[in-house]
Amino acid sequence: MYRLIRPLLFRLDPEVAHRCVIKATAMTGPLGRAMLKLRSGSSQLSGSIDVGGLNVKGFVGLAAGLDKDGELAKFWPEVGFGLVELGTVTAFAQPGNPRPRLFRYPRQSALVNRMGFNNAGSEALAHRLDRLRNAGWNPSVPIGVNIGKSRVTPLDQAVEDYVISAKRLNSVVDYLTINVSSPNTPGLRKLQNKDDLKFIVDGVRSVAPDCPIFVKLAPDMDNPSLERTAIMLEQEGVSGLIATNTTTERYGLSDADHVDGGLSGKPLASRAREIVSLLSSCCRLPIVGVGGVGSVNDVNAMLDAGAKVVQLYTAMIFDGPDLIRRLNQGLMSRWKECVEAQKAS
Ligand SMILES: Cc1cc2nc3c(=O)[nH]c(=O)nc-3n(C[C@H](O)[C@H](O)[C@H](O)COP(=O)(O)O)c2cc1C
Repeated sequence: MYRLIRPLLFRLDPEVAHRCVIKATAMTGPLGRAMLKLRSGSSQLSGSIDVGGLNVKGFVGLAAGLDKDGELAKFWPEVGFGLVELGTVTAFAQPGNPRPRLFRYPRQSALVNRMGFNNAGSEALAHRLDRLRNAGWNPSVPIGVNIGKSRVTPLDQAVEDYVISAKRLNSVVDYLTINVSSPNTPGLRKLQNKDDLKFIVDGVRSVAPDCPIFVKLAPDMDNPSLERTAIMLEQEGVSGLIATNTTTERYGLSDADHVDGGLSGKPLASRAREIVSLLSSCCRLPIVGVGGVGSVNDVNAMLDAGAKVVQLYTAMIFDGPDLIRRLNQGLMSRWKECVEAQKAS
């Protein structure tokens, strides 16, 4: 189905195409979800594995950014994702950067974006999830929310911004991800330094003491800084690391293709894997591997590098939701082994 509509979608501006798909899918409601479930049914994985206190139901999760405001929160588990990360949301609703701000590179299976955390705010998402849960929605997979800093909040008041969002979301999420790694909010990545990050983690924990906390890191940190940060986060007792966000490097793109923003997709895969491998060798935190994952081989390579599970975004834009069914099918035997190994341990 996606293969049929993709040429049409790819004639549209990438962001317009994205909005059309989100709106159209949301409009299909329960019928759409039932059809998705039917389609992905044969590849649904049984059992779960523990990732930082979460019962994850498959190796492949949805990465942050694709559904910032949780408009399709109920759909993603039916697509076959084993965990779902909504957001990034910020304490204040904000429009993000001026358009155009999303660019496709089909030849390289890549995207560049400088969205700048366009979102309706953490309060709106907390209300939406609260309404869904009150109406009886009991998702089969962990639903997390990725929180970032509002653009209007000065860096020296960043902790408060994260704390406001964490407080609002705490009771309606299965985990929170602290995002200090987007390249599109001025100064945000400065918060990756050990001291600031520690304050943010402490602040979030003070209002969400029982909520698993993950931290998402940038691929552009140098390796020693990544190691130091991971060791500090392990000492802080966070639940896991998510590696990585988009990169400001331009692996595989020519100068002629240059636009400002963060690069994702296939060209990021090698650096993301390298970081997963580095992190898994310097700390014992579970790692969610993200970056350029689009095939069974890519997932296997991430798992071999030390990730417990993966997330993806860009590959969904190029291959559609059916990709998740195909990945789950291709990973079925490794998944079974993993579930059995965990039971035995
Ligand atoms: C258009 C777009 C928007 C994104 N927005 C966010 C975001 O709001 N928060 C976040 O943590 N990551 C965001 N990301 C990064 C993805 O979650 C992911 O870390 C990155 O794209 C690498 O994975 P991929 O190669 O599978 O896309 C975004 C990525 C894209 C392409």
